[in-house]
Amino acid sequence: MSDPVSIVPRPQSVIGHDGEWLGTKPWETLRARLDDSLGANEYLLSVTSSTITLRAGSESALADGKNTFAQIIDGAEAGVEKESGLTRYRIPCLEIRDQPKYAWRGLMIDVARHFVPLDQLKKMASAMALHRLNVLHLHLTDDQGWRIEIDGYPRLTEVGAWREQTMTGRYLGEETPEGEISYTSHGHGGFYTQDELREFVSYAAELGITVVPEIDLPGHMQAAIAAYPSLGNNPDTQLKVRETWGISKHVLGTGDAAFNFVRDVLEQVCDIFPGPYVHIGGDECPTDEWEASPEAQRRLREWGLERTREIQGRFTQHAADVLRKYGKRLVGWDELLEAHLPDDALIVTWRPDHSVAEATARRFQSIVADSNRLYFDHAQGGRREPLSIGGKTTLKDVYTYDPVPAELPAEERALILGVQGQLWSEYITTSEQLEYMAFPRVCALAEIAWGSPRVSYREFLRRLRPHLQRLERRGINYRPLS
Ligand code: ACM
Repeated sequence: MSDPVSIVPRPQSVIGHDGEWLGTKPWETLRARLDDSLGANEYLLSVTSSTITLRAGSESALADGKNTFAQIIDGAEAGVEKESGLTRYRIPCLEIRDQPKYAWRGLMIDVARHFVPLDQLKKMASAMALHRLNVLHLHLTDDQGWRIEIDGYPRLTEVGAWREQTMTGRYLGEETPEGEISYTSHGHGGFYTQDELREFVSYAAELGITVVPEIDLPGHMQAAIAAYPSLGNNPDTQLKVRETWGISKHVLGTGDAAFNFVRDVLEQVCDIFPGPYVHIGGDECPTDEWEASPEAQRRLREWGLERTREIQGRFTQHAADVLRKYGKRLVGWDELLEAHLPDDALIVTWRPDHSVAEATARRFQSIVADSNRLYFDHAQGGRREPLSIGGKTTLKDVYTYDPVPAELPAEERALILGVQGQLWSEYITTSEQLEYMAFPRVCALAEIAWGSPRVSYREFLRRLRPHLQRLERRGINYRPLS
């Protein structure tokens, strides 16, 4: 074969045999099995003129191989056989032996700022599988919306999942006078029932994707506090679900109600999501309310702690205790490093100035989610791009990004488990827009995640063009190349 069959496997790992073609019913013919002579993340897909075999070192590698095979079929010449009515494909004989550079190849979707309907989530999962991404991080809760049904707390979804209006235009910070912000004339909201989430988790698992749920705590909790004021620091104040972007100062209070709430929610989350990870957020948690609250300060003394920030540490510790009981590993944003946290926490580093080097120097395993290069809510070009949160991250910025800082010693490099793109949805209001912001940057992310040799940006674009037609055939929107 002269062309690599896929945008993801390394070009040199594709060994084809020119001229030999196979007419068959590929899915029926595929023989897939685990083979422990292969590396844990490795698969070997072999198409000869008589058989198609797939062997892999693990279930997740098996899923990668199946997804590669699906992609080959997707691009194949097909015809319907008259007598049987079956579709026959012509696919090249080939052998692909491949394994990803990173075990965690992630995409985060923020369903809190704007709700993403279940069918669209499934479409995104399927598009991830096409790119052999294997972790879908679902940002389920935030100041502007709570999206997961929790038994015993009906107001989370009756009240916390809905806001009366949403600001339009760019957010200029806390100091912006209220009168200068304009709003939509309609409300926004939605949530997933537990059954819907279970259905989604199984759908994703079939594609080889682990869903990592995030309950962002103890900050980014205004929607929950609007539903249950007793969870906050000022139980007598009725808040609204937040209607502007930015960071709310309203965070969980330090009473038993808040700690019991965290336990109850995480227990149900552990039950709904069978994967090994639960993300507890931890980012951008202002301490203003804790500083001002006599109750919070009393608790701090009772715990024998001095720094107010350590209240966050108590929440992290509490969440870790709950998750441990369910055999889950705690994941959180890099702010977790600023207070007490468990040694086995998995850190998602997003702030460029608090880079992954800080986490790995302290021996924490990490996922790189750098906001300069992997935030897909930023614009993809100059003028004419749709309104976005601000910042610019072009396709080339993503493609040329090396997530591992050059100066990192080898033993610290080994602590980087993966990379992840972020689709924050303040300015992503529709499914078309979600796809537009994701693609083709997700294609470049997949190349980084798989460790494909970065030959040149031009070479990538040459392979990307036919790949974009593949997206088009699947009805996936994308930003056209410049
Ligand atoms: C984040 O962007 N607040 C993780």
